[in-house]
Amino acid sequence: MNRTVLAVAAIAIGVTAVGAQSDPIAARKELMKGIGAQTKTGGGMAKGEVPYDQSKAQAIFASYIDAASKAPGLFPPTSKSGGDTAALPAIWENKADFEAKFAKLGADAKEAQAKVKDADSFKTVFPELTKDCGSCHQTYRAKKS
Ligand code: HEC
Repeated sequence: MNRTVLAVAAIAIGVTAVGAQSDPIAARKELMKGIGAQTKTGGGMAKGEVPYDQSKAQAIFASYIDAASKAPGLFPPTSKSGGDTAALPAIWENKADFEAKFAKLGADAKEAQAKVKDADSFKTVFPELTKDCGSCHQTYRAKKS
């Protein structure tokens, strides 16, 4: 690829990122993908497949706190369908419960930030923390068929 093509590609990515602000479905999928990637890193460390890294662990918790604070704003009533969303209608029928689950993720991640000091504490705390992901997906996200 030559430089011009690369530059054009970079601009296209920039435009997509800006567009996400006005497209809550794309924005929340991006946000979820980000914590999905962090969780993969965490899973590897929890299983001992990759060496434990305290700063990575703290970055994972910070990404959860950030997502938990931004996500509730990315489910406006105008975003129930379209954009290949896996969000279920139950979200808008139980908005308070849905948002409480994000609040719980944020609070648990803050607690984890304080508790996790080394590989051992990470291995105890991380699997518990990620139960918050599944507990929301189970009720509010369509299963992949
Ligand atoms: C309070 C609810 C809730 C919590 C908590 C939550 N999610 Fe999600 N997640 C969703 C919903 C709803 C979708 C579907 C979004 C859509 O398709 O519009 C989703 C989608 C995803 C996706 C798919 C994104 C894509 O490519 O479309 C990933 C990956 C994901 N979540 C990871 C996580 C991880 C990891 C955690 C925990 C650290 C987490 N989520 C916590 C509600 C939640």
